[in-house]
Amino acid sequence: MGFKKLIAGLAMSASFFAVSAVNAADIEVTHWWTSGGEAAAVAEFAKAVDATGDKWVDGAIAGSGDVARPIIISRILGGNPMGATQLNPGTDADELIKAGLMLDLTELATKEKWNDILRPPTQMASCTIDGKVWCVPVNLHSAQWMWTNRKVFADAGIEPPKNWSDLVAAAPKLKEKGIQPLSMAQGWPVGLLIEDLIVAVAGVDNYVNVYKGRDLALASGPEFAKVFSAVDDARKMVNPADMTKQWNEAVALVITGKAAANVMGDWAGGEFQVANMTPGKDYDCLPGLGIEPVLNTGGDVFYFPKNADPEVTAAQLRMASTLIQPAVQVAFNLKKGSLPMRPDVDLSAANDCMKKGLEILDQGSKVFPNNVQMIDRDSLNQINDLFTAFFAAPEMTPADAQAKFVEIIKAAPPL
Ligand code: GAL
Repeated sequence: MGFKKLIAGLAMSASFFAVSAVNAADIEVTHWWTSGGEAAAVAEFAKAVDATGDKWVDGAIAGSGDVARPIIISRILGGNPMGATQLNPGTDADELIKAGLMLDLTELATKEKWNDILRPPTQMASCTIDGKVWCVPVNLHSAQWMWTNRKVFADAGIEPPKNWSDLVAAAPKLKEKGIQPLSMAQGWPVGLLIEDLIVAVAGVDNYVNVYKGRDLALASGPEFAKVFSAVDDARKMVNPADMTKQWNEAVALVITGKAAANVMGDWAGGEFQVANMTPGKDYDCLPGLGIEPVLNTGGDVFYFPKNADPEVTAAQLRMASTLIQPAVQVAFNLKKGSLPMRPDVDLSAANDCMKKGLEILDQGSKVFPNNVQMIDRDSLNQINDLFTAFFAAPEMTPADAQAKFVEIIKAAPPL
């Protein structure tokens, strides 16, 4: 190309950018990614959106999903919508969609073939109601992981645990050395631990049959009694006074060597990365609590509340498209500890935990639904409250807790 042509070309693209800058819009984005690893990851999304000419106006809500979800939903219902918001794949936005408050992404999803390029299909299914697409899935996050600090075990002269049972066996010796065997955070992390123990002890099918199939005989029977006795083991490893307020504080106790292990979703991996720790050397990540490698189809999706300004609508669609671009998917998910939504991306920089997750994902039989894809959020909150009380009240027996758990499952509305 001659010099003149090059200059003319540059001038044209400059005027193109000028036009797109005029049409660009600010998008306020609400999310609950406020821990070290989460903040590093979400900065990648913000960078990618800003690079399109639009402006990511960060609306992080401190705390976690439990705090953020009601704020997000009431803002949209109350007529003060943000430009875009994180939620989990499941039923959390159903009322908002029914009320006609959310932007329909069907045309974009069809044009970009989201159903073909994103996997697993459960995530698009969660975004699709009556054939219309209402959200874009940005990652796959599974909840069934145990995280352990190798140095803590080496210092105590114990082999690092390969699974939950090894941890239970090591607990008395760890306690003797003044180490918390298991760190725990209050609220939903308790529910996460219970579900992980159901999956590890009773198996995936039984978990799904109770949470989705509402099989009350199973929930009150001997398979689940074993689960509640495992929950009792967990309770004995945790001093209620040491329970932290936030999930990442409990992970930090493992990172700093004050606790030996934590059970948390793969987003905990982002915290270990920020601390410059290497899996297999400084810490271990054990899917399925080391008992059976499985993963559930949790994760994050973005919804876009309807906006009267067509320029905002155009920016919302640009953002939806940007979040699933291959390079953006890689940059975000490497920092987040989650798996990218598309297989056609360069994962040469994946760490061992991500590689384990991808391996499980490839064997579809080991993948099962996220809790909120099977049961409503209110029932999940009741389960969290029940087990928070169980942890705090040694007089509550595993059998009492099991009976109360069955009542909650029984009363859960059909999905
Ligand atoms: C989940 C979310 C994850 C992670 C976690 C803790 O709901 O899917 O991305 O952020 O909360 O904040």
